[in-house]
Amino acid sequence: MDEVLVTGGSGHLGTDVVRLLLERGDRVRVLSRTPRAGADVRTVEGDLATGRGIREAVSGVRAIVHAATLSPAARRGHFLPVDFVTSPPDVDVHGTRQLLDEAQRAGVEHFLHVSIVGVQQSKVPYLRRKAEAENIVRSAAVPWTIVPATPFYWLLARFHDHMRKQRLWIAPSNLRMQPGDSAEFAPYVVESLGTGPAGDRPCFAGPEVLSQADIARQYQAARDVHHRILEFPLPGFAIGAGGPQTCTDGRLGTTTWAQWLAKH
Ligand SMILES: NC(=O)c1ccc[n+]([C@@H]2O[C@H](COP(=O)([O-])OP(=O)(O)OC[C@H]3O[C@@H](n4cnc5c(N)ncnc54)[C@H](OP(=O)(O)O)[C@@H]3O)[C@@H](O)[C@H]2O)c1
Repeated sequence: MDEVLVTGGSGHLGTDVVRLLLERGDRVRVLSRTPRAGADVRTVEGDLATGRGIREAVSGVRAIVHAATLSPAARRGHFLPVDFVTSPPDVDVHGTRQLLDEAQRAGVEHFLHVSIVGVQQSKVPYLRRKAEAENIVRSAAVPWTIVPATPFYWLLARFHDHMRKQRLWIAPSNLRMQPGDSAEFAPYVVESLGTGPAGDRPCFAGPEVLSQADIARQYQAARDVHHRILEFPLPGFAIGAGGPQTCTDGRLGTTTWAQWLAKH
């Protein structure tokens, strides 16, 4: 049996990745700030932001799935002006670098990095951090794979849950994205781990390209919310600043936004 370290193994994607790895017979180790008791998985208590526990987490593993991240907006469920100015580098940049340094020292054979579609073109600070992390992975000595995905449904739902307090919703009509279900992305991540180091892999997304207004309308229909949605076109520079959020020629999930909302 191979042992695989999953950072972010307690998160939305990571939980499914851990389960699938166990199902295929791998031994799994998780790096987390919060230790959890579990018969199947060894949790190493550590923190990518400070470096605590990284060496112990990496020691003796064959491969790493790096799915930990720190998006302040995702964590709180809404954006603040500061999110368009800066984003902390601790986890995604410094943590990724330190994880790779320890992986090289430990002779790890495969580093699979989970990323986001379009980060290299984006000007949004958190996505710039993810782009920096990609660049660190690409220049690492440890053999690597990068698998990018479009925004996950759970995150869209969290943002829209927060918007329920507002009577008026503002939704750009020309900002198009192709969100997907992290539970459908997880098998692709595990498959990519099995393929071995492959560099940049095709992106993952859901089955539909939707405007922000479509996304808001479908959320309201599913949750029986009836707030006014003000649609307006964003200027081209603002659309470009986010980077592309679609992936029509990659691996596509089958669950639509409406189906996901009905299930959760
Ligand atoms: N969410 C999206 O829409 C989306 C879209 C495309 C790609 N992605 C990428 O997919 C991956 C997983 O995203 P997700 O949405 O599943 O994440 P998530 O649910 O927000 O979970 C974040 C994970 O990061 C870990 N983490 C945060 N700070 C840490 C620290 N200082 N030290 C160690 N671990 C830390 C957390 O572990 P503990 O709390 O247990 O420490 C948690 O397991 C990330 O690489 C993300 O960039 C996300």
